[in-house]
Amino acid sequence: MARSWCSSRSSNVPALAHAPSLWLMLLLLVGLSDGQLQVGFYSKSCPDAESTVAAVIRQAGAADPTILPALLRLQFHDCFVRGCDGSVLIKGGNKNAEVDNNKHQGLRGLEVIEGAKTQVEAVCPGVVSCADIVVLAARDAVTFTGGPSFDVPTGRRDSKVSNLRDADALPDVHDGIDALRSKFRANGLDEKDLVLLTAAHTVGTTACFFLQDRLYNFPLPGGGRGSDPTIPPGFLSELKSRCAPGDFNTRLALDRGSEGVFDTSILRNIRNGFAVIGSDAALYNDTATVDVVDSYSGLLSNFFGPYFRQDFADAMVRMGRIGVITGSNGEVRKVCSKFN
Ligand code: HEM
Repeated sequence: MARSWCSSRSSNVPALAHAPSLWLMLLLLVGLSDGQLQVGFYSKSCPDAESTVAAVIRQAGAADPTILPALLRLQFHDCFVRGCDGSVLIKGGNKNAEVDNNKHQGLRGLEVIEGAKTQVEAVCPGVVSCADIVVLAARDAVTFTGGPSFDVPTGRRDSKVSNLRDADALPDVHDGIDALRSKFRANGLDEKDLVLLTAAHTVGTTACFFLQDRLYNFPLPGGGRGSDPTIPPGFLSELKSRCAPGDFNTRLALDRGSEGVFDTSILRNIRNGFAVIGSDAALYNDTATVDVVDSYSGLLSNFFGPYFRQDFADAMVRMGRIGVITGSNGEVRKVCSKFN
C-alpha cells in the first residue's frame, strides 16, 4: 500500500511531523540564513551603510545633476543582465566584460558607485555588496531628482561572472512592444512594471545616437526607409532639427518639456505622440500597455487614478529582486570593478 511522505517518515521525526509551527520556524530560519533580501539588512553589520551611500550620491548629484538619472539607469542595466548582481561594474582587460557590450552604450555612474564603495569599505570592510550599492544609489537618485523616497531591501551578493554576450538580452530602442513585454516577462515583470519603469524616462536625456534610425532609417510599411510615420509632423521637424543625420552625441530630454520634474508627464508625452525614443513610443502600440499609460496620465488620473509615485517605487523594488544572489553564494567584492 502506498504510504504518504509524512507517515513514512513519522517514525524518524515524530516531534517535527506533529508540530507544524516548528516546521514553520525551521523554514523561516533556513530562509533567513539562506539570505533573503530584507529592508535594513545592514542595520547591525554596517549601520551607516545606507547613509554613507546617500551622502556620496547627494554630493555627486550636487557636482553634476546629470549623474542622478544615469545612476537610475544603471540599476536597470545591472538587474536586466543576469540579475542585480553588480556584474555590470566589472571591468575586463580584453573588452569582453559585460559592460563592453554595445547595449550598455552611454552608461555612466560606475565611478560614483566605486566611490561609494570606497567610503563604505572605510567604515565596514567586506560587508556591503556592490550590487546593493547600485540599488541604493538608484533609490537615492530617484529621491534626489524629486521622486518618491522609499525603502529598498538589501542583502544581495556580487556575482563572480561578467560575460560580454550576456548583455545582448537587454531591451533596445528598436524593440517593438512584443519584444519589450517578453524581455520584461523573462525577468518576472509584467506590462504594468514595463510602463512604470519606463516612466523613469521622466528624468534624464538621450544621445541622438538612439534616434538616428527612428528619424532617418526607419523601415517604412510600403518598403524603403525614412522617418517613423507615427511621429507627428511638427515633432518630427523638431527632433530632426536637434539631431541631424550622423549626429550621435547631442543630447535631448527624454521627457519633452518636463525633464527637470519627476512626474507622469513622460506618460502623457507617450500618449500624445511625443515619445522621443522608439521603445517609449512602442508602449502606446498595445492595448495592455495603453491601458496602463492611460491610467497614470489621463485627465482624471491625478484624482482617481493609481498612485504613480508609490507604484513606481514598488516597481523599482520588484526590479531590484531580479536574479539576486544571496546567502553564501557569490561574494562581497572589495572593489566593485574587480572580482576578489
Ligand atoms: C524599456 C526598455 C528601455 C529602453 C529600450 C531604454 C533605453 C534608453 C536609452 C536609449 C537611453 C539614452 C541613453 C543615453 O543616451 O545615455 C535611456 C536613458 C535612460 N533610461 Fe532607459 N530604457 C529602458 C528602460 C529603462 C528603465 C527600466 C529604467 C529605470 C527604471 C530606465 C532609466 C533611464 C534613465 C533614468 C535614463 C536617462 C539617463 C541619463 O540621463 O544619463 N530606462 N534609456
